[in-house]
Amino acid sequence: MRRTRIRTAAVVTAVLTGIATAVSAPAGAASDRPWMNTAQSPDARAHELLAAMTVDEELAMVHGTGVGTYVGVVPGNARLGIPAINLEDGPAGVADGMTNVTAFPAPITMAAAWDPDLARRYGAAMGAEERGKGANVHLAPMVNILRVPQGGRNWESLGEDPYLAGRLAAAEVGGQQSEGVIATVKHYADNNQENDRRNVSVQVDERTQHEIYYPAFNAAVRAGAGAVMCSYNKIGGTYACENPGSLGDLKKQMGFRGWVMSDWGATHSTVPAATAGLDQEMPGATYFGAPLATAVQSGQVPRARLDDMVLRILRSMFAVGLFDRTDYGNPAVDVRSDAHTALARQIAEAGTVLLKNAHAALPITKAAKSIAVIGTDAKDKPQAVGGGSGHVIASHVVTPYDGIAARAGSGVDVTYTPGDSAGDAGIAAAVEQAKKSDVAVVFAGITSSEGSDRTDLALPGNLDQLISAVAAANPRTIVVLNTPAQVLMPWVDQVSGVVESWLPGQEMGGAIADVLFGDADPSGRLPMTFGAKAVDYPANTAEQYPGVNHVEQYAEGLNVGYRHFDRAGIAPLFPFGHGLSYTSFRYGKLAVDGHRVDFTVTNTGKRAGTAVPQLYLGFPTSAGEPPKSLKAFTRLNLKPGESRRVTLNLPPGAFQVWDTAHHRWATPKGTYHVYVGASSGDVRLTGTMRVS
Ligand code: GLC
Repeated sequence: MRRTRIRTAAVVTAVLTGIATAVSAPAGAASDRPWMNTAQSPDARAHELLAAMTVDEELAMVHGTGVGTYVGVVPGNARLGIPAINLEDGPAGVADGMTNVTAFPAPITMAAAWDPDLARRYGAAMGAEERGKGANVHLAPMVNILRVPQGGRNWESLGEDPYLAGRLAAAEVGGQQSEGVIATVKHYADNNQENDRRNVSVQVDERTQHEIYYPAFNAAVRAGAGAVMCSYNKIGGTYACENPGSLGDLKKQMGFRGWVMSDWGATHSTVPAATAGLDQEMPGATYFGAPLATAVQSGQVPRARLDDMVLRILRSMFAVGLFDRTDYGNPAVDVRSDAHTALARQIAEAGTVLLKNAHAALPITKAAKSIAVIGTDAKDKPQAVGGGSGHVIASHVVTPYDGIAARAGSGVDVTYTPGDSAGDAGIAAAVEQAKKSDVAVVFAGITSSEGSDRTDLALPGNLDQLISAVAAANPRTIVVLNTPAQVLMPWVDQVSGVVESWLPGQEMGGAIADVLFGDADPSGRLPMTFGAKAVDYPANTAEQYPGVNHVEQYAEGLNVGYRHFDRAGIAPLFPFGHGLSYTSFRYGKLAVDGHRVDFTVTNTGKRAGTAVPQLYLGFPTSAGEPPKSLKAFTRLNLKPGESRRVTLNLPPGAFQVWDTAHHRWATPKGTYHVYVGASSGDVRLTGTMRVS
């Protein structure tokens, strides 16, 4: 009934308009397509377009047609001028086999830069490349919390802390959507591992869900993310893509107005999924194709629910301007650029973390006339990118050896010895070279991938032996790690320097050379805690990970990452937020006034450098919170001797905990401890705040 009346009105309008403007009106003139009037809000435009759609046209939008040119495809609608929806991975650049794209550093590298502005630029650059390739839904960012160090997709994550991940995800979403592509925040929720991901049921208490695993999604939603991807796993026994609880939290408690698409093959039903809040099946139509049409026809799925699915999709499309452009890009375009190459190098550099620097082993100075570059990760097998749907095909990789040789210049003898690819003989050759070199830099790399978790945290093959042997041969041995997340370092006391540069993308060689030679101050800070031993990490029973009989207990609750190390009193090898500079900083003059915290940071060294002051809050004991949690941070570039007064204002949300009795946020009253420092393990200033 409703449909017919509106259609008649539209036809009448078109006829009248047609007579008046038969000559000049292009197909789809504004009069018979009121939704094309850009003066209206995305919401108004979506309502107008929805009103003009038939039920079959609506149904065509709530599922894909399989993997095609893009990993997800929803055909356009010529009658109504609805553009096709082309969905494409991934969190580190255009993925899914596309070429002539920029292989940006992994998200964990960007996270280690603790720089929301850089995160925004990262999102914008990737968004521009996706759009250039003809994609208009970017399947990123991935904001699952790094809960277990062996997680196969930790390289795609933004680390172990909800606040850091949320700040960076929100900034990245802003960047992506500023380029006219829809950000898809994934994987909602509790997809914190790869092993058994399609079957495992995560048991997580309500408070932990709201304080640890939801916040980064919430931040991205508040930043306007147009889509969310629900995950493969179950939550409390119900698949995430048909879970009324978690999907209700997203749409009601967090107020998400975009659409929820399933992960690829993560839809498991028609009526339960549709009524729980899934809005689109990807990549195909098994449940939301003919079966949904039947369910809508029969009323099992109310027509209003179908309307809402489509409204959410259309609103997000209008919001990024999908209807208001003529150039839609295509896969054959080479979307690389000097600007993106430079950005990839800048992010790799900014995310590089100097973990240890004994005897001023770094930076490498002119005094070094011979540098032994050791390890296949330095040249033959540079670990630049991660694996799985987020894998980006790099057109080239500037290897660490290339970068060091180029930077060292002709007067320095830079040699390359694989070291870890020829058993003991390989190690012996590396030792020989290290013995006769001023500096030895061992590159140790491992990647990881979607689909499986790492089986242990040790470096692969004989890298540990190689590092120890080289360290014994040269006191000035530096280890550069290219890893997706934490690794064990049995040799940490034997070497002078340790640098973590994650999976740094195609420009890894230039970036690491910048840091090793001191052209850039190492400004990365750990987005996760490095433990000394595997058992030091929180989830180390089978029930907690990978789960028993497909049931996994998040028994550690709030104590994820540094929260666990603090609560259990375990000294980490390197704490969350840790990262050395080539200069030093003094913190002083703390002043706490209400929710405002002021302090001064001074560069007490002889060279410019970057400080990343961090503010942690300790809740009143009665609140039942971990000892401290990150609530604010900033980045300061300071010249030698320069002081900067820093002001950090804490929003009301910083003082809230999730009240499971009333299912809402609450602010515990009492005395809060304020910790300001260079990392979670390096508190320089303390104060208190009262909340009454
Ligand atoms: C994969 C991943 C998801 C990706 C999607 C499309 O299974 O879990 O992150 O975006 O399918 O490739």
